[in-house]
Amino acid sequence: MEYYLSIDLGTSSVKLMLVDSEGNIANTASREYPVFYPHAGWSEQNADDWWNAICDALPELLAGRDGMSVKGIGVAGQMHGLVAIDASNRPIRPVILWNDGRTEAQTAYLNEVIGKEKLFAYTGNIAFAGFTAPKLLWMRENEPENFAKIHKVLLPKDYINLLLTGEYATDLSDASGMLLLDVKNRAWSGEMLDICGIAKTQMPTLYESYEVIGKILPEIASRFGLNPDAIVVAGAGDNAAAAVGTDTVGAGGCNISLGTSGTVFVSSDKFSGDAAQAIHAFCHADGGYHLMGCILSAASCNKWFCDEVLRTKDYRTEEDAVTEDKLGRNSVYFLPYLMGERSPINDTNAAGTFVGLRPDSTRADMYQAVLEGVAFAIKDNVEIIRAFGIDVRQSCLCGGGAKSALWRRILANVLNAELVLPVTEQGPGYGAAMLAMVGAGTYDSVKTCADAFFKAKTTVKPEPELVALYKERYQKFSHIYPAMKNLFTQIKE
Ligand code: XUL
Repeated sequence: MEYYLSIDLGTSSVKLMLVDSEGNIANTASREYPVFYPHAGWSEQNADDWWNAICDALPELLAGRDGMSVKGIGVAGQMHGLVAIDASNRPIRPVILWNDGRTEAQTAYLNEVIGKEKLFAYTGNIAFAGFTAPKLLWMRENEPENFAKIHKVLLPKDYINLLLTGEYATDLSDASGMLLLDVKNRAWSGEMLDICGIAKTQMPTLYESYEVIGKILPEIASRFGLNPDAIVVAGAGDNAAAAVGTDTVGAGGCNISLGTSGTVFVSSDKFSGDAAQAIHAFCHADGGYHLMGCILSAASCNKWFCDEVLRTKDYRTEEDAVTEDKLGRNSVYFLPYLMGERSPINDTNAAGTFVGLRPDSTRADMYQAVLEGVAFAIKDNVEIIRAFGIDVRQSCLCGGGAKSALWRRILANVLNAELVLPVTEQGPGYGAAMLAMVGAGTYDSVKTCADAFFKAKTTVKPEPELVALYKERYQKFSHIYPAMKNLFTQIKE
């Protein structure tokens, strides 16, 4: 049997997967690592932690199997993070992550001084604080000595690919999130590189996600007993990889991910920008394009409320306390803006907020409000996509949050959409393995591979009574952020 190995470099953990050439998942292994919040609104990780976690998990993944039968490797990764490396390929500083909000001033400079029209013409997008270009401007202004050392600007998964192959490479889906790529024409934007003070030679080579960037380095092959001829593909941003993993390829598919972030991803065979500029227009890993809305805190709200507030790891008991009669009927609301918010409000000052507490409000009401608040924030994005005339009556659902039956049900009713659950909730890892299969020549296109492998486990259907109740509650939820917007700016530390 031949195997394909994938690495999904997430924010809370890295997940490794071994998939056989018939699409069966042979094994998985994962390791967690920390996120550091050195200032309010900042979030960073150590790239060494990622690599150490991968090296630690690989023997467990390969246990009992012949590493020589691994034909290809694909890496999917958290997007937008700035991994600036020096001439000896060492990270110059901790990685500034996708949900870091320190670049308020640089984002405002790009959107207001350079101007949204120009940004949109150069890249197909506007600036959001989490994108890579504002981070480069921040580094140039605040850490000029570090900025001067930059040899290459990489994204998180590109750093892993560098350690695996020795190549400086990125793929178009992930590169789209840098705000340095002319998305429509699938090439670096000279204008954007000039604005950020970066030369094209400091950028990695661009590939389609399924293209081979090289073979694993001989020392990696011998350390882990892997086949030295195993190819490594360029891989993809985690959302594009998840879309491949859930067969959201070609025109008109939708995938929702409930990971640390929450995303709504609509695939397309043509480039189309977002005229209202609230969501992203990026390249897809299948060679096409996609639209995407991203909320910064989804499953991370659930984790925060349980781990930090309730001090429990027993999520199941919290879920079980949300009784049937309470669904759609909760006086408590929660704004899930723990790290500020990206789509659609683009506001680094927005904060997590409970509203509507009363003496009879319970722990279960607050827990329910957290799950509902995330679902409402996802609906904010789905409604924008629907306003483009895209019919979102059905979507795939993946990510760790998809494991919760309660959350799936709330989301299906809030969105009034059928949610299809794939056999594995690990969309990015499964998708990255498929990209490796295409790179190795086992399949001739991402679409044929995804069509052949995708299997649904179950479908969650909206229930008319709950849809009506949630419609009303969503309208109320929609009044909360506009009423608090100025207050968030005033109370920001
Ligand atoms: C997408 C985004 C997040 C990260 C999370 O734009 O920022 O979904 O990719 O890993």
